[in-house]
Amino acid sequence: MAVPQIIPDKVPKHIAIIMDGNGRWAKQKGMPRVLGHRSGVKSVREVTEAAAQVGVEYLTLYAFSTENWNRPPAEVTALMSLLVETIKGEIRDLNKNGVRLLAIGDIEALPAGTYKALMDGIEKTKNNTRISLVLALNYSAKWEILHATRMLATQAAAGTLNPADIDEAAFENVLSTKGIPDPELLIRTSGETRISNFLLWQIAYAELYFTPVFWPDFGKEELLEAISDYQNRERRFGKTSEQLG
Ligand code: FPP
Repeated sequence: MAVPQIIPDKVPKHIAIIMDGNGRWAKQKGMPRVLGHRSGVKSVREVTEAAAQVGVEYLTLYAFSTENWNRPPAEVTALMSLLVETIKGEIRDLNKNGVRLLAIGDIEALPAGTYKALMDGIEKTKNNTRISLVLALNYSAKWEILHATRMLATQAAAGTLNPADIDEAAFENVLSTKGIPDPELLIRTSGETRISNFLLWQIAYAELYFTPVFWPDFGKEELLEAISDYQNRERRFGKTSEQLG
């Protein structure tokens, strides 16, 4: 396949990815599911570097949802260990490559070791400016929206916020993605065509891209293909084609 051509000034600032298919990838090869997750880490590395190379500023990855706690306990434990091991092991390379680590989700409720490794990774990479890698961990959009609502309601009940002043900006200020621009492109791998409780507020105008490729097989070429597809779409934001000129 020819390398997809990317138009530099039409690269999305923020790409969000639902990394799916690790388990099926492993099963297809007769391997345990956890080896699929391990191979998925390679894709995380390759896709982060490729995104930075083309000028993407934020890459958000759905690494663990609030619903993923319902998986078999051994898989949950393996995923948490893999996260700790990966974050600890990658800090040097993240700094070498200018990657700032961020996290969204109910991260304080993560197991203590995972929380600590994550906070340490965030602290040690905080001055990097080439790309921000946002890990969605113990995240779900419904959790995030409820949490934001509770914060605003608390302020209103305390008399420090007038309910009439709750506009989009005020709401966005209490989301976990505060300060992060909305993704222009959302990718889901593995052939599933669902949003699965991911960034529901933030993807209001995102372009959606679904690919049958399993996450461990998704690399630089597949990312460029998705960006190229995005660049061929007409983003109307409620207007007509004619109005866009
Ligand atoms: C989805 O595949 C993948 C996950 C729930 C976990 C993603 C985690 C990683 C790639 C490893 C750690 C990541 C970072 C950011 C260090 P699935 O298990 O749902 O696959 P299936 O649908 O085929 O069962």
